Amino acid sequence: MLIRVKRGWEMSEREATPEAVYRDRRRLLQGMVATPLILGMGSVLSACDDNVAEAGDAVLVAAADPKPDPSAGLYPVTHNLRYKLDRPVTDEELATTYNNFYEFGSSKNIHRAAQQLPIRPWMVRFDGLVEQPFEMGVDELLAKMPLEERLYRHRCVEAWSMAVPWSGFGLRQLVEFAKPLSGAKYLKMTTLHDPDVMRGQRASWYPWPYVEGLTIEEATNELAFIATGLYGKPIPRQNGAPLRLVTPWKYGFKCIKSVVAFEFTDKRPVGFWEELQGSEYGFWANVNPEVAHPRWSQATEQVLGSDERVPTQLYNGYGEFVADLYADKQNERLFM
Ligand code: MTE
Repeated sequence: MLIRVKRGWEMSEREATPEAVYRDRRRLLQGMVATPLILGMGSVLSACDDNVAEAGDAVLVAAADPKPDPSAGLYPVTHNLRYKLDRPVTDEELATTYNNFYEFGSSKNIHRAAQQLPIRPWMVRFDGLVEQPFEMGVDELLAKMPLEERLYRHRCVEAWSMAVPWSGFGLRQLVEFAKPLSGAKYLKMTTLHDPDVMRGQRASWYPWPYVEGLTIEEATNELAFIATGLYGKPIPRQNGAPLRLVTPWKYGFKCIKSVVAFEFTDKRPVGFWEELQGSEYGFWANVNPEVAHPRWSQATEQVLGSDERVPTQLYNGYGEFVADLYADKQNERLFM
């Protein structure tokens, strides 16, 4: 007899959004994404703009026929009950069709174009201040890491949020595996650079490749996670296959997608958005409702898939896990 075991994040019927309400919310969301804003050199940039059109985007939406992900057999993985949500899980279709991945265009609607991302072979480089630099294929890496599933909130700097079930492993495990030297103070991560496929990378006003960084203390905090799966399946290309950072206490632009390199360094890395507009997107980027973005308030957030605006929480509600990381850094711009 086949018994269907409910996954940790699946809601009861009672909690599920009624279909009619959901459809209205989709209409609301479609309204939200319908404001075109063309980006260009020198314009004011936003990490999570709902802009629709940019030169080249029309070419990018051609559907591709992606090869199946060879890691599919690994999922679903054990659900870790430690990380609880205060809201329903976002609808899977929404979380996988409303994306930011500027390498495929600056609209939210890049999921079809992103199917062109070649996710195998996928080599990952570990270098900089490590005992011994090395490269490894992602499947070999996956076989060495303890996979689990976690429910996290995800808060974009532009005041929308989701709640999703990531599968993957703690970034701390990856750091230990790489054997950094004691002089390593930061972890710098880099996205694949392949303008033939990622045609957004032909836009020369962006500082490609996408780069992000964490302190070693942040990278080894228990919350920092490398997502390799989403909704009990391999992570879709548009969400950052095959390896994507998740730091739920920070704004979403820190969560770098499709990582090919982990470099340990003693210099603070300058992230993609920090490089573009450092006054609006800084290194720390911790969520704080009381520190407004220069152009809008961060006090509340729009929960995607719902018509609710809810109060934003300090460190996105994860203060008990991360506040200590910043106790001695009060002179820094921790929330921008
Ligand atoms: N990583 C890369 N390489 N390129 C990007 O454009 N966008 C960031 C982040 N990681 C981005 C990226 C931003 S602004 C956000 S809000 C999240 O990815 C969005 O993740 P999601 O599409 O899975 O919700």
